[in-house]
Amino acid sequence: MKIEDKVAVVTGAASGIGKAVAQSLVSRGARAVAMADLTDSVHKWTEELNKEAGRTVATAFQGDVSNTEFRQHVFTETAKIGIPRICVPAAGILRDAMAVKIDKETGKSELYSEDLFRLVLEVNLMHPAYWSMQMMAGIAEHRLTENLGKWSSEEEIQGVAVIIGSVSSRGNRGQVSYSSAKSGLGAVAKTLNAEGAYYGIQTKIIHPGFVETPMIGQLPDGMFEQQLRQLVPIDRMIKPEEIASTIVHMVENPIISGPIWADGGMPPMT
Ligand SMILES: NC(=O)c1ccc[n+]([C@@H]2O[C@H](COP(=O)([O-])OP(=O)(O)OC[C@H]3O[C@@H](n4cnc5c(N)ncnc54)[C@H](O)[C@@H]3O)[C@@H](O)[C@H]2O)c1
Repeated sequence: MKIEDKVAVVTGAASGIGKAVAQSLVSRGARAVAMADLTDSVHKWTEELNKEAGRTVATAFQGDVSNTEFRQHVFTETAKIGIPRICVPAAGILRDAMAVKIDKETGKSELYSEDLFRLVLEVNLMHPAYWSMQMMAGIAEHRLTENLGKWSSEEEIQGVAVIIGSVSSRGNRGQVSYSSAKSGLGAVAKTLNAEGAYYGIQTKIIHPGFVETPMIGQLPDGMFEQQLRQLVPIDRMIKPEEIASTIVHMVENPIISGPIWADGGMPPMT
């Protein structure tokens, strides 16, 4: 699907991959990009992006992507400019800890926190599913009002969602919640892709490896250099712009269904 003149919604847009995706969409001529993020820096980045573009193309929305009203507000406001046809729900969090920890002194075990597990599932699994579904709902309703039935291949693709998985979706020590959420996203993408075909909407998933963003900054000091770098055949971290350009390609090219492994050749970690 051509990006030029399309309306897009990007979450996690104040940092890392989301921010790079928003920049790429603007540079490809998107008509509007809704930039959603929890942090107030989303306002600053939106202003900078508009200044760089020399036009008002990006709009900041500050809020929690797990919140239903916030999600609906972003889509309703954005649809005033045009129906969102690109969705990249990139917001994500890490809450890593071993599944079971044993206190050697007391001999007692501690299980991974249920509250953290729920939080990670809400943000990393449910949010990408629901934001992609919200885009599908808008396009489906619009087709109904236009008396358009089942999509035909003579039409342009009507919408594309690109969901961000992870190499951790294959399972990883210390990431019981994160890997479960990322693994579940594979099924979300396949299901929405199958259901969305009726409306001409594609849902795809990309699995990045280690990407140089503040999220990776949460790893213990020196961990990438000392332990992880040797697992990556390209012998470096991936840049957020490289993931963004792959995502843009996935949006533009209808024959790519994904999953795309954008991991620099990294084998499974478990
Ligand atoms: N960095 C990596 O190595 C890597 C690898 C694989 C997958 N990913 C995935 O890529 C996506 C982007 O990660 P990143 O590396 O750019 O991370 P990042 O920490 O740089 O950015 C994540 C953004 O999401 C926002 N966010 C978090 N929770 C939110 C919430 N509840 N509501 C609204 N915004 C929220 C944060 O404020 C932040 O701006 C995530 O889904 C992450 O799991 C990252």
